[in-house]
Amino acid sequence: MRKRIVAGNWKMNKTYEEAVALVSEVVNMVKDEVTGNTEVVLCPPFVYLTTLKQYIPAGGRISLGAQNCHEKASGAYTGEVAASMLQSIGVEYVILGHSERREYFGETNAQLAAKVDAALANGLKPIFCCGESLDMRENGDYIGFVKTQISESLFHLSPEQFANIVIAYEPIWAIGTGLTASSQQAQDMHLALRQHLASQYGEEVAQNTSILYGGSANAQNAAELFSQPDVDGGLIGGASLKSRDFTTVVKANN
Ligand code: G3P
Repeated sequence: MRKRIVAGNWKMNKTYEEAVALVSEVVNMVKDEVTGNTEVVLCPPFVYLTTLKQYIPAGGRISLGAQNCHEKASGAYTGEVAASMLQSIGVEYVILGHSERREYFGETNAQLAAKVDAALANGLKPIFCCGESLDMRENGDYIGFVKTQISESLFHLSPEQFANIVIAYEPIWAIGTGLTASSQQAQDMHLALRQHLASQYGEEVAQNTSILYGGSANAQNAAELFSQPDVDGGLIGGASLKSRDFTTVVKANN
């Protein structure tokens, strides 16, 4: 049975004191809610990962994730963080291909394929983001566009490697806008992506891959979104910054 995951993408938010307070509250509120095949991943800014690791119960179902990593192993890349550095401090997941990085930092499908390789080579589990713009949704082959993001960045992987991939479908027009995709819109894309995975890797891999929804998912809509057969949890932005809201989302994933 595939994992059901709620990941909190804190993005560029919180001071040190606020981050410690938030992780303490969240761990205390969700630790008894994460059971069975569910998992919670907290993705704070790089600078807090080492400190916050101390607040996460070892061997439990709450993990740490990073919001990015570089595709190179090491070297003269000022300001960057290598996958091996993240692994060395106990980080388990890494968000890759977030639309904000594609937009603001020009990340391409090819570059993201290299980032995925670097993450996997260092024992990290990529949460690979994909999603279309509003213009693409309204005027283009948005399903084909998202499938291509997956094909070009992930389909070079072996089935064994792909077993470590989590996919997050995040329609760009729903991120941070309060305009959440309807449950049917989410289900339709998730099913299309699962069928796309099956075309490349077969039904077993497709059925075992967790596909999360992201884009204004919150305490009010999570239960309906997560009730969809091909929605396996969420990648949560704004609502992950509020412990009560995030806990409600986690509970909705059970
Ligand atoms: O990575 C998750 C994020 O892009 C979604 O943001 O604030 O719409 O939940 P938000």
